[in-house]
Amino acid sequence: MIMDTVKNKLKLIFPSHSENEGLARLAVSGFLASAGADISAVAELKTAVSEGVTNAIVHGYRETPGLVTVELKLFSSGRVRLYIKDKGVGIEDIKKAMEPLFTTAPEEERAGLGFAIMESFCDKLRVKSAPGKGTTVTMEKYIYKRDEP
Ligand SMILES: Nc1ncnc2c1ncn2[C@@H]1O[C@H](COP(=O)(O)OP(=O)(O)O)[C@@H](O)[C@H]1O
Ligand SMILES: [Mg+2]
Repeated sequence: MIMDTVKNKLKLIFPSHSENEGLARLAVSGFLASAGADISAVAELKTAVSEGVTNAIVHGYRETPGLVTVELKLFSSGRVRLYIKDKGVGIEDIKKAMEPLFTTAPEEERAGLGFAIMESFCDKLRVKSAPGKGTTVTMEKYIYKRDEP
């Protein structure tokens, strides 16, 4: 059995104000930098967390404000797991929501590319959501430089 233990973790809980998106980015980049992550992994996860937190704020809590939770876990294998959770409106059709260019907010000039960006900037993406219950996005990424082939 491969032992993959949690080496470090961080949990942030903040209200759905748009200025807190920058705070989440900073916290994620600080956590990863202090773990010695590769700079491209830091940049990619920062972008991915921005997209996920923005979605929680602008879509999840569109009608009623609420709390967003961002949780990070660093494993001894060098993998990071990142959770972005809201208890907002939830997503009716997850598959459709994840299609590139699909957006329910075209009038706000949303490009519909948030999920596509998150997917391309991490190794694994999972979306759990139910209408009225909220949404949890889980991303996993290996954060160190891979050995040259
Ligand atoms: N946390 C969330 N809560 C509710 N709906 C969401 C959430 N995240 C994404 N969605 C839905 O998925 C769609 C696609 O998201 P995304 O790919 O980021 O595109 P965009 O944010 O530009 O619309 C959104 O338009 C919205 O309908
Ligand atoms: Mg988005």
